[in-house]
Amino acid sequence: MVNEKIQKALNDQIQAELHSSYLYLSMCAYFESLSLEGCGHWMKIQAQEELMHGLKIYDYMILSGSRVLLQPVEGPATTWDTPLAAFEAALKHEQYMTKRCNELASLAIAEKDHATNNMMQWFVTEQVEEEANVESIVSKLKLMGKDGPGLYMMDRELASRAAPTVAPAAE
Ligand SMILES: [Fe+2]
Ligand SMILES: [Fe+2]
Repeated sequence: MVNEKIQKALNDQIQAELHSSYLYLSMCAYFESLSLEGCGHWMKIQAQEELMHGLKIYDYMILSGSRVLLQPVEGPATTWDTPLAAFEAALKHEQYMTKRCNELASLAIAEKDHATNNMMQWFVTEQVEEEANVESIVSKLKLMGKDGPGLYMMDRELASRAAPTVAPAAE
């Protein structure tokens, strides 16, 4: 059984993951508007992953007899100055999510809730990959500068991102 404090934090984290999903879907729409379908595809997969993150916490809460209380999801930004600016915003967002995951794990440790801490460790590890993935794209876009053919090649590369696999609560 998860205590009230942790239940509140987990409900807040579901909201944050769903907001992440909404943000990346918005970035997808932005890239589609620029005919950068590869970047859009990458962001759509990112949006699906974030929804799965929310569901992973949802499933864990149900499994542990907690009460899921869904909260309003804030509207995302809808436009960015450049493709690089969008990916930089994504990186900043992932850094924020890493901070949230670390804080939730710390709270679970402080509350001696080992099961929740264990579940959150999956997210802590996942965030290392999440940040690295976006960081690599940001670095390449910076190298390219305003190089149109480079951006075209990059768009083609991002088009090959595979769909996410299901991450069950018990994993
Ligand atoms: Fe996430
Ligand atoms: Fe993420």
